[in-house]
Amino acid sequence: MTLLVYNKSIETAFLPLCVKIQKEFQRLGEPCRIFDNRTAQQIKKDDLFFENCVFLDKDAVLGQRLEQWGVRLFNNLGSIELCDDKRKTAEFLQGTFKIPETVCYPLLYAPDPPFFEQFAAETAEKLTLPLVAKLAFGSWGQQVFLLHSIAEIIDFQKKYYAVPHLYCRFIQESAGRDLRVYYADGKAVAAVKRENKTDFRSNIALGGIAENHEFTEQERQIAEEACRFLNLDFGGVDLLFSEDDFPYVCEVNSNAIFTATEEISGVNIARHIAEGIKKKAEKEAPDFSKENFFL
Ligand SMILES: Nc1ncnc2c1ncn2[C@@H]1O[C@H](COP(=O)(O)OP(=O)(O)OP(=O)(O)O)[C@@H](O)[C@H]1O
Ligand SMILES: [Mg+2]
Repeated sequence: MTLLVYNKSIETAFLPLCVKIQKEFQRLGEPCRIFDNRTAQQIKKDDLFFENCVFLDKDAVLGQRLEQWGVRLFNNLGSIELCDDKRKTAEFLQGTFKIPETVCYPLLYAPDPPFFEQFAAETAEKLTLPLVAKLAFGSWGQQVFLLHSIAEIIDFQKKYYAVPHLYCRFIQESAGRDLRVYYADGKAVAAVKRENKTDFRSNIALGGIAENHEFTEQERQIAEEACRFLNLDFGGVDLLFSEDDFPYVCEVNSNAIFTATEEISGVNIARHIAEGIKKKAEKEAPDFSKENFFL
């Protein structure tokens, strides 16, 4: 049995994804149920009725509890947490993948005006202006900012010094444009190109328009390698255009919404997700037929 879990507070976005994936599991003859995270939190260990869980949530404590009980989470919690925190994703990918040069903000317990000034000057010099600032946890482009001056970097720190965040080089040639490549069942399965004429952020939620994109061999390879490197079972990779045509990895989403990508590309992403999970679950299941298994 597989349980699908979504976050109740963003039900309108995630429940339809669960329903799509459930339909595909049913087509494969796999029993599955859908719970929101609040209902899932009520489950007792003794009443555990599923061995696999498609975790379309980021509630780390709930995920940890289920993993501790031996449930296989798709995606696993470690990968979800690596993707959720943009600082950790950057730290993990840099050196292996081409990402925009990034400076993670150090942990500050109290405001430190002399440090704000020093950090702003050094970061502006390193990354050049304008630069992009991102809160570590954010979606739909809402916590991504373009800062144009040292004064703006200082003001940003005054406001956000206690909030985990990072700064990265602004990739001018990709302003307002990016690619979202969807990965499932071990391969890139669909992609859309997003373009926003009024904002440097291409997010659809901010007015970006998406169109189907046939990914190149290089884009396919980068997206697949990034997801494998992060040990994801499924996910969405944002690629930024580059002057030398070798794309940057902008970010990787473990819980990417795929409704629009499915509509635009005509690809049944939910089917790829369900098929990939079924294969993995079967492969990973312990083989009780082996002799001396418990010795
Ligand atoms: N370094 C950069 N240079 C140029 N544009 C960028 C850069 N970083 C982000 N962007 C733009 O801002 C958008 C939002 O950034 P990012 O994907 O990191 O944030 P997000 O809010 O998590 O998005 P999502 O909802 O896809 O998770 C990107 O899709 C891209 O268009
Ligand atoms: Mg993004």
